[in-house]
Amino acid sequence: MKPGFEKYIPFQPQPIRGRTWPDRTITKAPVWCSVDLRDGNQALIDPMNLAEKLEYFHTLVDIGVKEIEIGFPSASETEYEICRELIEGGHIPDDVTIQVLVQAREHLIKKTFEAIQGAKNVILHFYNSTSTLQRKVVFQMDTDGITQIATDAADLIYEMSQPLIESGMNLRFEYSPESFMGTEMDYAVEICQAVLDHLHASPERKVILNLPTTVENCMPNQFADMLEYFIRRLPGRDRAIISLHPHNDRGCGVATTELGLLAGADRVEATLFGNGERTGNVDMVTLAMNMYTQGVDPKLNFSDINKIREMFERCTKMPVGDRQPYVGKLVFTAFSGSHQDAINKGVQYMKSSGTEYWEIPYLPIDPADVGREYEPIIRINSQSGKGGAAYIMEHNFGFDLPKSMQPEFGRVVQEETDAVGKEVAPERIRELFHQEYIEARQPYQLIKHAFRETVDAEGHSHVAFQGTLRHTDTVFEVSGEGNGPIDAFFNAIQGEKISRFTFLDYASHAITDGSDSQGVAYILLQDQRTGKQYWGVGLSHNINLAPLRAILSAINRAKRA
Ligand code: KIV
Ligand code: ZN
Repeated sequence: MKPGFEKYIPFQPQPIRGRTWPDRTITKAPVWCSVDLRDGNQALIDPMNLAEKLEYFHTLVDIGVKEIEIGFPSASETEYEICRELIEGGHIPDDVTIQVLVQAREHLIKKTFEAIQGAKNVILHFYNSTSTLQRKVVFQMDTDGITQIATDAADLIYEMSQPLIESGMNLRFEYSPESFMGTEMDYAVEICQAVLDHLHASPERKVILNLPTTVENCMPNQFADMLEYFIRRLPGRDRAIISLHPHNDRGCGVATTELGLLAGADRVEATLFGNGERTGNVDMVTLAMNMYTQGVDPKLNFSDINKIREMFERCTKMPVGDRQPYVGKLVFTAFSGSHQDAINKGVQYMKSSGTEYWEIPYLPIDPADVGREYEPIIRINSQSGKGGAAYIMEHNFGFDLPKSMQPEFGRVVQEETDAVGKEVAPERIRELFHQEYIEARQPYQLIKHAFRETVDAEGHSHVAFQGTLRHTDTVFEVSGEGNGPIDAFFNAIQGEKISRFTFLDYASHAITDGSDSQGVAYILLQDQRTGKQYWGVGLSHNINLAPLRAILSAINRAKRA
């Protein structure tokens, strides 16, 4: 054997002229078929037991999958029993078709017919391997011999199915030239045509031709070329439903499927989260949600993805990766500060513009569409920028910090992340906010106060303030008047030692915590002596008191600094 990479035979692309698939887009959902309970199940260290398979089956039905490959009933007694339980236990809704897999071998086909007795809608799926490599090393047979296996099986299946069809069973057929991707395309056309003929396929009784990348061996564009070539040459294309069954050996299963759909496929066999042999089958969730985020209805419901994931992990004992598209724990988390700022701006933009579309950078999907929450989107670590902490304060705790305040609070959080050297949880960010602003109660504190408001004949408001303040241990009285509570308080403290501050900016809003609603005020003051600016925050059930607390918070912070 040659060393290293030299021992591999490169894929030979199928020459094709005037390919049309690159100019197409995906505009509608394919027919979905789940192979979780067969391809997925056979690849588990501990295959699912009956109860697990039933629960999984019901989840697939809830998601909206209408064709479900339930197993390989001729392969073992367990598989047979599961098939019987699904049928006899009344688990299969009338609009769902079960699919059963069988090799193109007589005794297995006969056993499979026994297994499906009594079912309403069935796809009988048979296969044999057609690739150059398998013909050479496994079967040592020429193409005629391989075609004979397929057509013999087709004849038997057609014959055995007639009484069932006459008795009312909606029985359809599926043929897979297994290892299609390693088969010469002209031969793939030849064997599929022969199978269609032997199954008496017609536009009214279409047969599913399932074209698997049993082992993914080429680039998705090369697969799309093969498929377009195959479909063009298949006589009586309207007798067939072209189905894809991609595996993921090169990590391109999703791309292969998407390009395969552009090249003319009608149907896709896939599994949840890409479970299946080796690197798995193609992931149905990613495919469906990719369509969804392009404005195409995938006709599958993943609106509670966490619930599906929980069922999947419990039944298969397989973990779903943290970065698995749409479902992974970290896929709605932005660590980078610039990403956090952009997300923040996107949220603001959506609010202020009233846009009808999802227009948030770095979030290709609204997490709520898969039942995920906004809360974990931003996590604050030393790489996060000023916007991240403000985002947490707004989305987790309802504090809408003024824009010009965000850098100041960002620095407070940054100091903490630098000090602890790891991520800071939202709760800790709230604590820092309280410590820094709301609990800045020294040295100045408002002990008690009263406002008296009069409105003159022209409607002008006039407010008189009287209050008691404490500076460390000294208690003193202040009073002042103004055109509003803030003005009156500010005038009241003129002449005191705290009068060296200029009022620069003010914002306020209500925050609701359960049924409890409070007002929060943000006030920016400038220290005339140093020129430095300080934000203060006040919180109160009393709408007039929150700004006074905010003023004192800013002054106290200035003193502290
Ligand atoms: O991957 C494959 O080729 C299969 C066939 C049985 C369809 O699973
Ligand atoms: Zn497979």
